[in-house]
Amino acid sequence: MSHESTYVPNSGFERWLDKRLPLIRFGDDFMGFPTPKNLNYWYTFGGILTLCLMIQIITGVILAMHYTAHEDYAFWSVEHIMRDVNFGHIIRYAHANGASMFFIAVYLHMFRGLYYGSYKEPREIIWILGVVIFLLMMGTAFMGYVLPWGQMSFWGATVITSLFGAIPVVGDSIKTLLWGGYSVDNPTLNRFYALHYLLPFLIAGVVVLHIWALHVPGNTNPTGVEIKNVKKDTVPFHPYYTVKDGFAVVLFLMLFAAFLFFMPNSLGHPDNYIEANPLVTPAHIVPEWYFLPFYAMLRAITFDILWVIPAKLGGVLVMFGSIAILFVLPWLDRSKVRSMRYRPWAKMWFFIFVVNAVFLGWLGGMPAEQPYILLAQIATLYYFAYFLVILPILSIVETPKPLPKSISEDVLAKKKAKKKKPAADVSGGVAQPAE
Ligand code: HEM
Repeated sequence: MSHESTYVPNSGFERWLDKRLPLIRFGDDFMGFPTPKNLNYWYTFGGILTLCLMIQIITGVILAMHYTAHEDYAFWSVEHIMRDVNFGHIIRYAHANGASMFFIAVYLHMFRGLYYGSYKEPREIIWILGVVIFLLMMGTAFMGYVLPWGQMSFWGATVITSLFGAIPVVGDSIKTLLWGGYSVDNPTLNRFYALHYLLPFLIAGVVVLHIWALHVPGNTNPTGVEIKNVKKDTVPFHPYYTVKDGFAVVLFLMLFAAFLFFMPNSLGHPDNYIEANPLVTPAHIVPEWYFLPFYAMLRAITFDILWVIPAKLGGVLVMFGSIAILFVLPWLDRSKVRSMRYRPWAKMWFFIFVVNAVFLGWLGGMPAEQPYILLAQIATLYYFAYFLVILPILSIVETPKPLPKSISEDVLAKKKAKKKKPAADVSGGVAQPAE
């Protein structure tokens, strides 16, 4: 949605700068970007995610000033942060709970994208860059969790890195490379720390591309109908969406604060307050909550696939495949109608998909025994069927509801419908004198 720049430099300095580095023009154009006037609160998560990334980088850099990436000191340096560093406990809890908040926001952002068909032409690259961000986020969070060098850090790292050993031919070499030796040890901690510090900046770079790509076609909107008339269908991003996003950010920060100040350990595992011990394996090794659906899919494959793929490799392929499939989603769902608001069948299967994803998360936290394994197998099947069978078939057979002609037509029709409703009874049940 390219739009003509309306910026006029006001002072001599602005004119001078504008000819050399038009930064103010860029900011002005960004803020005035024509945005569909009917965006709802599901569209505020992009802004919330930007804030989350900033919080993680700022708190992370401060933590790094006091943290020591060595197997003998890592655990105790975190205790030192919690006890001795000024506001250290708040900064550490903000970073740890911030990761969870980041994932809550990213999952809602992705579900929004799935529901409103944000991945569809011409926004495939925005979506694909999003999936790249998601993968980088998962890598960053996984390595960050290893840094406190608690029992779950150590054993989680051992379980997940060992999975790479299932890859034929190169698996063992990858594992050795990840470990920097022959087991999770001090070199592993060091390289994870280096990468955990690096990746958020890479994420920030991909986010810039993500938003750049978004500014080419512009946002979708709940109707899925593209902008027809810039004047009638859009409003400038500022002040309309800076205020709306700002309000959503305040609500989101209230939730964040509730975790941070009242239950800072509720999302973590108590075993991570025990220093890593390679000689004692915890009874249940579970990842952080945001990895649980993928962990459930990994463990669901308890059988060799087609006699050639051993179960362990099958689990790894299914787990990575569950994300890889998102890359090709724009070419699996070929329906011309973007928003599921007008696709009754797709809408129903989508809601089942959401429930199924939450269910997978619950199963991932359960022990790897029956009936959980069977349930995880069924839920994994549905996860893949949604993308590979249901959406492609619905693209052909579903009859969508009639679409509004334009964004403004939809907004005006809603306003009219509201006006037509009989006025609420404000008498409070008391008889009013006749006019
Ligand atoms: C650090 C993580 C991320 C940040 C900071 C971010 C930021 C944003 C922002 C600011 C927007 C515009 C506002 C909005 O529509 O909410 C946006 C839109 C979008 N994002 Fe992200 N995003 C992130 C991750 C992701 C992920 C993981 C995906 C999908 C896998 C994704 C897919 C999309 C799509 C498809 C749009 C276009 C939405 C539309 O116009 O319908 N994003 N993102």
